[in-house]
Amino acid sequence: MPDLAYLNGAFLPISEARVSIEDRGFQFGDGVYEVIRTYAGRPFQLQAHLERLRISAASLQLTIPDSIARLTEVVEEGLRRAALPETKIYLQVTRGVAPRDHVFPKATPSTLVMTFRGFTPMAASTQAQGVAVLTMEDLRWARCDIKSVNLLGNVLARQRAVDAGVFEAILVRNGLVTEGSVSNAMAVERGTLCTAPTGPNILAGITRQVVLELARKHGVPVREEAMSLERFRAADEAFLTGTTVEVLPVVRIDNKPVGVGSPGPITRHLSDLFQRAVGR
Ligand code: PDD
Repeated sequence: MPDLAYLNGAFLPISEARVSIEDRGFQFGDGVYEVIRTYAGRPFQLQAHLERLRISAASLQLTIPDSIARLTEVVEEGLRRAALPETKIYLQVTRGVAPRDHVFPKATPSTLVMTFRGFTPMAASTQAQGVAVLTMEDLRWARCDIKSVNLLGNVLARQRAVDAGVFEAILVRNGLVTEGSVSNAMAVERGTLCTAPTGPNILAGITRQVVLELARKHGVPVREEAMSLERFRAADEAFLTGTTVEVLPVVRIDNKPVGVGSPGPITRHLSDLFQRAVGR
């Protein structure tokens, strides 16, 4: 059954899944989410995603209605039922349905939603050639480490990128590069991999963590430090990481080439290591 949903304990087609107009996710963006993909039908880093969901929810005093073990079972069952070659799993928990009031409702059950849709990987040619990005001010709130469904800053940034004919918007706060609108941003300077440290300014990407571990294991020095926009633009290589983009070379920043203007050797090496780690 393609395009499957799971809503508060039941599987049903996405087209039949309904949530109240008074759900706090709808009215306040009061919720958290995860996006997980499969490789060869298996969810990649599922436990890391569920652990991040737990931390995001705890940061908002939001109750996840099921245990991590139960969520794992539901994801596995959803994958079995959807029976897709590759699946993009969306998981969202919101603070439930209550008359609109900023204050948390008392004793209101959270709303748990999952969707299971076919996942089409990015074209191999895009991966190989790399993408262009623009940079812009980071207009998001001060807790970007929480994977909140409040994504207006990300939505506006991504739309600006697409309107400008580039793939991603790299966000800059107080002169320092934070991350992309849907990805983490990394640069290579004289052989060292640099990326913003985890903390309130970025989402601690699961792919980011996997790539940093691969780099360290394979002798690529890693520095987790905030980079100025000038430093980022002047890097020898740059790339994005994320569930949907994997390791994606950045070859142009604000219309100027990165390094020689094609994916650099360390980016390609890390991309190969990542592809091997996911079983390709
Ligand atoms: N987003 N930073 C931001 C702002 C993101 O939205 C994402 C992913 C990442 C990468 O995280 P990960 O490696 O854990 O996927 C970094 C998902 C894919 C989304 O919102 O669709």
